[in-house]
Amino acid sequence: MELRGEERRILDGDEGEAHRMTLSILVRMGELFDAPRLMPITQAHIDACLYSNDAGLEFAERLAGLGARFRVPTTLNVTARDAARWEAFRIPADWSEKARRMEEAYLAMGGLPTWTCAPYEHGLVPRFGQQVAWGESNAVAFVNTVIGARTNRYADFMDVCAAVAGKVPETGLHTTPGRRGQVLVRLREVPDGLLSHESFYPVLGYLLGPLVGERIPVLEGIPGATPNAYVKSFCAAAASSGSLAMAHVVGLTPEARTLQEAFQGGEPDGVLEIPMGDLRDARRKLSTADLTTVDLIAVGCPHLSLPEAMWVADQFRGKRLARPLEFWISTSRAVRGYLEGSGHLATLEGAGLKVLTDTCAVTTNIRPWGFRTMMTNSAKHAHYCGGQTGLTVVFASLEDCVGYAQGRDALEAERLWGIG
Ligand code: F3S
Repeated sequence: MELRGEERRILDGDEGEAHRMTLSILVRMGELFDAPRLMPITQAHIDACLYSNDAGLEFAERLAGLGARFRVPTTLNVTARDAARWEAFRIPADWSEKARRMEEAYLAMGGLPTWTCAPYEHGLVPRFGQQVAWGESNAVAFVNTVIGARTNRYADFMDVCAAVAGKVPETGLHTTPGRRGQVLVRLREVPDGLLSHESFYPVLGYLLGPLVGERIPVLEGIPGATPNAYVKSFCAAAASSGSLAMAHVVGLTPEARTLQEAFQGGEPDGVLEIPMGDLRDARRKLSTADLTTVDLIAVGCPHLSLPEAMWVADQFRGKRLARPLEFWISTSRAVRGYLEGSGHLATLEGAGLKVLTDTCAVTTNIRPWGFRTMMTNSAKHAHYCGGQTGLTVVFASLEDCVGYAQGRDALEAERLWGIG
């Protein structure tokens, strides 16, 4: 790989061990992918800041202790606790303390305390074409697909190396040829009512993820006015059931105004037909329990946006939870602040709901609650819930999560799906 003078000096140790180590890791990665050189990035988003084991904590504290500093503005993904309310959420003190040390290490390196997995909602939102280095799979898929900023899918610690170096290998989704659509996805027999319903998109992503693998799918037939919240849940699901880093949604992705543009003037490498029956089966697989054991409703994966959270609050105006269960909204501290200012937080809390910030129900430690079954509108939560928390799952739309909490028994969206 062609290295510049400044890069050689850093590799010689002129700027200290932390900068030498992180750059040498990036150079090795670049060589692995045949990148011709390193290229500058303008911002980073770090996923490695979530405490999940002592090795990650040791890495962060060692790097901070060696004097590592981020060279570009860097936002931080979720931590493993609600930093302000960890006791109220029954997060064990030893867990909270390790999460706090992890937070401190990343703040010492210059990270911005955003603590959210939806960094595209607020703060340092990049623009079309901007080169960034993001971790957190849903955020990577969203920023490439919806905004058209350019990032590869950086694994934990690679995101840290990129933020410290302010550079990444020039390869993959950072390049124009690397963003060419590869497989054309056609939906078959999907009713229009479902195409414009929130519950369709997480299921589509969950099914599509393993089918496309690392290829870039091009989706035709998705209404151009599909809300970002739906694309967000699609991206999160496909990036967790598979390894999606970018999709072209024709008419919505800035680089895919037409099919031809999505394929950069070429032909698709393959065509994937998605029949309605396969979508229905995928939806069924997301639930591992029935409603009788639900004791936690968790929405906000990825973190709920302000409009979504306000919508939930509006549904609870003058009402309360009608069942003996917990209803948690996971979101960023920024959104919680807006909700507080607008009075929506008081509505939510008055109705018996809780707003969890900085983390979510599967990345913090919820064992002390002894829950049995989580009801969620997120295919990503449903996918990880069993392994991470041991809970069984009921997958439902956001509307049905709210309706069930208010005492309604039927899941309305199942009619649209032709099941139930
Ligand atoms: Fe975010 Fe937790 Fe989902 S970190 S993407 S809400 S699993």
